[in-house]
Amino acid sequence: MTPTSRNKRAYVETYGCQMNISDGELMEGVLERGGYEIVGTPEDADVVLVNTCAIREHAEKRVLGRVSQLNGLKRERPGLVIGVTGCMAQRLGETLLEQAPYVDLVMGPDGYRGLPEVLQRLEKGTSPGAPAAPRSTVGIVERPRKRGPQLAVLQLDVDENYQGLEQRRAEGPSAWVPIQRGCDHRCTYCIVPYVRGGEKNRDASEILTEVRLLAEQGVSEITLLGQTVNSYVWEDVGFPELLKGVARVDGIQRVRYTSPHPNDVTEALVEVMAEEEAVCEHLHLPAQAGNNRTLKRMLRRYTVESLLEKVDLLRSAVPGIALSTDIIVAFPGETDEEFRDTLQLMRTVRFDEAYTYKYSPREGTPATRLPAEHFVDSDEAQERLEELIDVSRAIQAEINRSEVGRVEGVLIEGAGRDEGQIRGRTRRNKVVVFDGTVDRVGQYTQTILERTTGATFAGSEVRAAAATPASV
Ligand code: 5AD
Ligand code: SF4
Repeated sequence: MTPTSRNKRAYVETYGCQMNISDGELMEGVLERGGYEIVGTPEDADVVLVNTCAIREHAEKRVLGRVSQLNGLKRERPGLVIGVTGCMAQRLGETLLEQAPYVDLVMGPDGYRGLPEVLQRLEKGTSPGAPAAPRSTVGIVERPRKRGPQLAVLQLDVDENYQGLEQRRAEGPSAWVPIQRGCDHRCTYCIVPYVRGGEKNRDASEILTEVRLLAEQGVSEITLLGQTVNSYVWEDVGFPELLKGVARVDGIQRVRYTSPHPNDVTEALVEVMAEEEAVCEHLHLPAQAGNNRTLKRMLRRYTVESLLEKVDLLRSAVPGIALSTDIIVAFPGETDEEFRDTLQLMRTVRFDEAYTYKYSPREGTPATRLPAEHFVDSDEAQERLEELIDVSRAIQAEINRSEVGRVEGVLIEGAGRDEGQIRGRTRRNKVVVFDGTVDRVGQYTQTILERTTGATFAGSEVRAAAATPASV
């Protein structure tokens, strides 16, 4: 073994949405302050945390596979602590500990503040018959096991919004700033409110302080995060005011937010989007379906007509805004005709990009209680998905082809796929690949869009001589 004086090392591996990635950064921050060194591979770590997603069955299966793979590592190093955190940990809870005895800890999304304490308890262990270590983190449940207990921290906490805890962010020009946790909606397919609890917003002045600090550290792009981010409210500060405040922080050149609920796309919000230079001309607006009966049964609380009004509102306030969306096909009871309405919605709105999913039953959600005969046959669901993908990709390619020739500002984000190439993103969220070196990550430049694969662009830089300082 290595000398005992060194810090314990922790590795956090995150799956799922941006909120979860942001939670991964939060956990790393908490661990670092708790004396842990954060490392980049499980092989180097004393503690491995797998931060999981529960949104669809597929996501869970993948993660379970990964966790059992880590057991191989534990066989070589029995002292290794394996923890499963996040939405799947919350959903499966102690069942997971039972099914995977090599997992030492399950911890839901509201337990991260107590991570160092909980890990310390695991380290001390409790041999059978020995008195339990003192408990201070609420809701630690202990399951006896031959070699030390397993711990479960699964209490949802209506007050936990992680105020005052600093995340450990990856270096770079962009930062995600969570402003809200949980969700007050109950869309009938969705597990999120059950594993993350109700909506909890953060103090607006804390958010602004954090953004100012990030800007001072060189961050120039901020993405505000929340499950229904635009329903944010803190005292007398609503989302439009917060967005405006963030957009006006010195040094912040780009602001995005995700994911909004269509009902909270208001005139006040689109006005801020239109007026604040830093707010990008892109919005991910989850539609989920294009048929009113389905939307009603999903409990989305809007109709196709009202959704189209929101799209018009956005497009008239922010001309040229790029819109992306999420669509679920084969929601229980969706008829073929109703699915065709969704295709029609795609053709009417012409989203720049669509993330498409087959309905996946999530135990405990209302949609799973619909009569069994309502469930769409899996071949049929697959066909609908493929048809939707064909339609949305064709529209995306048409839109992108029509944009070839434009000169667009990009923020350089990283390496391209090929040697000697780098990748940037336009304000309208389109990816452009062009010649360059990775030491330029974080810089803004102008590119001409020369070709498109349909989804992304290849371009070249418009040389500095041609670009005035004001245009970069
Ligand atoms: N099945 C399939 N897709 C789902 N989503 C959420 N829950 C489910 C489910 N049970 C999709 C929604 C959401 C995105 C993040 O995942 O489209 O917007
Ligand atoms: Fe899930 Fe609906 Fe809440 Fe989004 S708004 S997290 S889909 S319940």
